[in-house]
Amino acid sequence: MKLFGFIICAILSAAMGIKVSIPQEKYEVARGDDFTLPCKFETTQQNPPVIIVIWSALSPQAGQKGKPVATYYHPSGQLDIPPAYEGKATMKKDVDGGNVDLFLKKVSMDENRVFECEVKIPMDDEGTPSAITTLVVLVAPSPPVCQVKGTAEYGRDINLTCFSEEGSPDPKYSWKRHTVQNQPVPLPPRATDKNGHLSLYNVSMDTSGFYLCTSTNKIRSASCNVTLSVMPPSMNIGSTALIIGVCVAALLVIIIIAVCCYRKRKQKKLATEYAMGEVEEEYRDKEPMESERNDRNNKLDDRMERIEDMDNYEERSERNYDRRSDYADRREKNYDRRDDYDDRRERYDDRRDDYDDRRERYDDRRDDYDDSRDRYDDRRDRYDDRRDDYDDRRDRYDDRRDRYND
Ligand SMILES: *[C@@H]1O[C@H](CO)[C@@H](O)[C@H](O)[C@H]1NC(C)=O
Ligand SMILES: *[C@@H]1O[C@H](CO)[C@@H](O)[C@H](O)[C@H]1NC(C)=O
Ligand SMILES: *[C@@H]1O[C@H](CO)[C@@H](O)[C@H](O)[C@H]1NC(C)=O
Repeated sequence: MKLFGFIICAILSAAMGIKVSIPQEKYEVARGDDFTLPCKFETTQQNPPVIIVIWSALSPQAGQKGKPVATYYHPSGQLDIPPAYEGKATMKKDVDGGNVDLFLKKVSMDENRVFECEVKIPMDDEGTPSAITTLVVLVAPSPPVCQVKGTAEYGRDINLTCFSEEGSPDPKYSWKRHTVQNQPVPLPPRATDKNGHLSLYNVSMDTSGFYLCTSTNKIRSASCNVTLSVMPPSMNIGSTALIIGVCVAALLVIIIIAVCCYRKRKQKKLATEYAMGEVEEEYRDKEPMESERNDRNNKLDDRMERIEDMDNYEERSERNYDRRSDYADRREKNYDRRDDYDDRRERYDDRRDDYDDRRERYDDRRDDYDDSRDRYDDRRDRYDDRRDDYDDRRDRYDDRRDRYND
């Protein structure tokens, strides 16, 4: 029976022609590893003159034609590798043994696809000339991102999303819920968890909590979490409305105050301008001439009188109107200077009186002097008289002497 079966098989095999096979439907490899995809073939031909082995990669989309990865020609030994797989793919071949394996170096996500091994032998085109297998390149899921989509307010429907950028095969996601105290609790009753998309309906305070999403594939898993705190809508809307209302009210008050101030200021300004004329501009000049200053003082006095006539203006100006008080100050100073001048003038007059007195006294003394001079002249005259006397006496003495000597 066994022998019969073997014979049948051999006959069938011979009848069905070439047989190409890949042991597994699917191979898994971690990204970055080297990998060899095995392929075996059996042929009915004895020492076929030509054998062509073609490894090609099929696009993930079904029905698309594959692209060659490596083509080997036996017995010439020619191996064609297209530029896209240069340095990446090569063939490990033992044609006599019926092994034509594809070697892939440092597998990347591009090799995450279906590969086909096809063997072409002349006169042996019946049977199974090709086989396919799926290479699954595995990538650990990248840390997922958890997000809350929607407004977490009472009565709303919201979604929690979870997604890993990387991960091959595509990670599976699952949400778990914890209390704030980190105790596991079931998801809310109506919640639906569809591959990382957790929909929560009619949320309330009870929906609040700590939500944890885990992204898992064959290699590894990663997780993220969000803390959901559902707020009463009335509070949010109420507080927002209150804040807006307060802001608007404050703004209105500010505007009203600003308008009032502006108007009052303008009125004051008009009144002042009427009263002061171009004084403002004149006062901006830095160093007015001496004569101008005197003129101005006169003008200021005139204007001051006019200002004092305006009782209303006086009342208003009692409030802090700087320019008005400045003016008053300057006017007072002017008065002060005037007083100074008067003082000085008085002092000058006093001194003049003094001088007159002193002059009189001088004149008196001069008279005295004249008197004494007269008296001196008198005395001189008398002295001269006496001298004459003396000379006379001397002459007489000399005469007497001469007479004595004789
Ligand atoms: C939540 O997801 C559902 C279904 O995926 C969608 O219809 C709904 O608009 C989403 N809601 C929000 C707030 O994103
Ligand atoms: C939402 O939940 C509240 C109680 O939390 C319930 O009174 C209300 O009927 C619910 N609304 C819907 C549309 O389910
Ligand atoms: C929640 O996520 C943060 C990062 O977003 C992480 O640091 C923390 O450990 C996570 N908590 C838990 C309990 O997983």
